[in-house]
Amino acid sequence: ALDISRLRAQTGAITLDEGFVNTGSTRSAITFLDGEKGVLRYRGYPIEQLAANCDFIETAFLLMYGELPSTKEIETFRAGIREHTMIHEDMKAFYNGFPRDAHPMAILSSVVGALSTFYQDSLDLDDQRQVEISIYRLLAKLPTIAAYSYKKSIGQPFMYPKNELSYCENFLHMMFATPASDYFVDPDFAEALNLLLIVHADHEQNCSTSTVRMVGSSNANLFASISAGISALWGPLHGGANEACVNMLEQIAMDGGNVKKYVDMAKDKESNFRLMGFGHRVYKNFDPRATIIRACCDKLLAKLNLDDPLFVVAQQLEEVALRDEYFIERKLYPNVDFYSGVIYRALGIPVQMFTVLFAIGRLPGWIAHWREMHANPAFRINRPRQIYTGCTERDVIPLESR
Ligand code: ACO
Repeated sequence: ALDISRLRAQTGAITLDEGFVNTGSTRSAITFLDGEKGVLRYRGYPIEQLAANCDFIETAFLLMYGELPSTKEIETFRAGIREHTMIHEDMKAFYNGFPRDAHPMAILSSVVGALSTFYQDSLDLDDQRQVEISIYRLLAKLPTIAAYSYKKSIGQPFMYPKNELSYCENFLHMMFATPASDYFVDPDFAEALNLLLIVHADHEQNCSTSTVRMVGSSNANLFASISAGISALWGPLHGGANEACVNMLEQIAMDGGNVKKYVDMAKDKESNFRLMGFGHRVYKNFDPRATIIRACCDKLLAKLNLDDPLFVVAQQLEEVALRDEYFIERKLYPNVDFYSGVIYRALGIPVQMFTVLFAIGRLPGWIAHWREMHANPAFRINRPRQIYTGCTERDVIPLESR
């Protein structure tokens, strides 16, 4: 078969596609999405079916290993994860060094990067057993690292994981229990969290996943590659949008709930303001993930019967924007981040932790792509080209004559 990239490299031809709108960076068998039709499938399974029938850990297994697990496989997988939920005691010292108001995403990427200093026995990419252990370690430890960052920010002691709990229950326990008081995990909260993690678990070649692949393509270890992905996810145009969205809703609520004013501002290019949680690079009709979690959001809000002006603003904003010509013409619909922020808030998760939860959800997707890339015998270091637009050749004038 004709290898276009090799041919281009030989002939010097370069395709310029700023922002990679139409550039395929790889072949991948993990996630299919059709932005026009609003279709999202992991390994061929529709996201709606996975959300209705599977839990996050089964979904993680599916993404990483290609098939839904059997009963025996999932038991072994869960047991393997449980075995690694604690982090090395000395790693707690990192948290002493971070300022109390440090953003948890900064802590998350730093501590995940630092896993490679503590777990040097799982860094050899040529040893499949070591790679597998690093995968278990990441899946097991990320919630612990994340919950510790929250405990640090509020000055409470870290809570050790409780391995008899499920993945989501355990995270909520580490977030909200204290040594003085146990925390009852509401099954509806655990279910909502489970759903959110599933819908965030993969989304093909998005910014953070492409970052994980890019960094991983230099043969950097898995911890380093995932740490880079976490940093990429932090940006407000990517995973940071759920936090930015709730901050925006709060601002609108404090400003008297004048939704129309903000919709008008978003339409005014001079304002540089965008409605956070609206629009998507790929989904141009609706975001199937948003549809799934919108139902969860409605159910949770009805159950909790919360009197929160932010929820009222969210509902009004959705209504006004969906009827506005500007948003209709540009096919700007609420994306997954619009509702996820509202759900996290209802669960009592502090706003700075929203993107951290996105990272926990996206982890299996990042790992799946990293594995897929390394399993490809034709894999090469990722190295895009550019069109140079700077000066043509010129001579250096010595400093004293400039
Ligand atoms: N509010 C107002 N206008 C918008 C918005 C918005 N949220 N999103 C896009 N537009 C407008 C743009 O100004 C542009 O208008 P124009 O054609 O008149 O110039 C048009 O819609 C197309 O927008 P682009 O920026 O070209 O679209 P792109 O695909 O590059 O960006 C993105 C997609 C980044 C998601 C964008 O819609 C956005 O900034 N949304 C808000 C942030 C957000 O919610 N991000 C989360 C994405 S989902 C995720 O990461 C899980």
